[in-house]
Amino acid sequence: MTAPVREKLRFPDALMLVNAVHPIRIACRPDLVPVDAEHPDILLDRRAAGLLNACIRAVGGQGQIVPVSGWRSRKEQQAIWDDTLEKEGAAFAQKYVARPGCSEHETGLAIDLGLAAPHIDFIRPDFPDSGVCAAFRRRAAEFGFILRYPADKQAVTGIAHEPWHFRYVGVPHAMLIAERGLALEEYVALLRRCPPGAPLEGRQMGRAFCVYFQPEAGFPQPQPGLHRTCSRDNCGGWIVTQWQDGEV
Ligand code: DAL
Ligand code: ZN
Repeated sequence: MTAPVREKLRFPDALMLVNAVHPIRIACRPDLVPVDAEHPDILLDRRAAGLLNACIRAVGGQGQIVPVSGWRSRKEQQAIWDDTLEKEGAAFAQKYVARPGCSEHETGLAIDLGLAAPHIDFIRPDFPDSGVCAAFRRRAAEFGFILRYPADKQAVTGIAHEPWHFRYVGVPHAMLIAERGLALEEYVALLRRCPPGAPLEGRQMGRAFCVYFQPEAGFPQPQPGLHRTCSRDNCGGWIVTQWQDGEV
């Protein structure tokens, strides 16, 4: 009898859509690093951590914008869910906490940020629409982050407005999502309508790119001369990002 083939553990792909309808399908082993020297216990995907700090520096937010929660194990997410359910009730928990297996915190690609204060609420940190927090929110997309749960997208995301929760998706995607005012759910659905022959095309920072969708059945074939990244969408497909020149 042949032994069952185990899905290889892999790094979480930047465009994974994780929500109640799309729990994490593929076991991930994030490449985690401490988000900064002052918060060694808060871990984040290596790519995301570097860019988060770059964005905080760009808006002069060092010491004012602080990380509150980054990567969470499944067990931690379960404990947060159980604790919130017990203390705040089901309606509140469903609004602000994803069920275990359905939280993008488990991928290491999500970070909750707060404005520095003597007491910071762990579930709903204060991240106001003013000062450095507003400046961070304005520039986040340049560094590959999106505001994952906007106020007007609760019906799409299934989660209430979370002005503190940012998700790393990388460029050019974060800027496309911000420019078009989409939730990640809507962006992934849009890309499903963009096959290799009719990609989403654009230019960012002087570089031309195209993005297209390909079903998960086949790994996208390399094409010489093009710089590209391939990300599974956690919904059965690949999202391929191709730059005409330069680095990916
Ligand atoms: N607060 C977000 C929804 C989470 O728990 O993943
Ligand atoms: Zn969060």
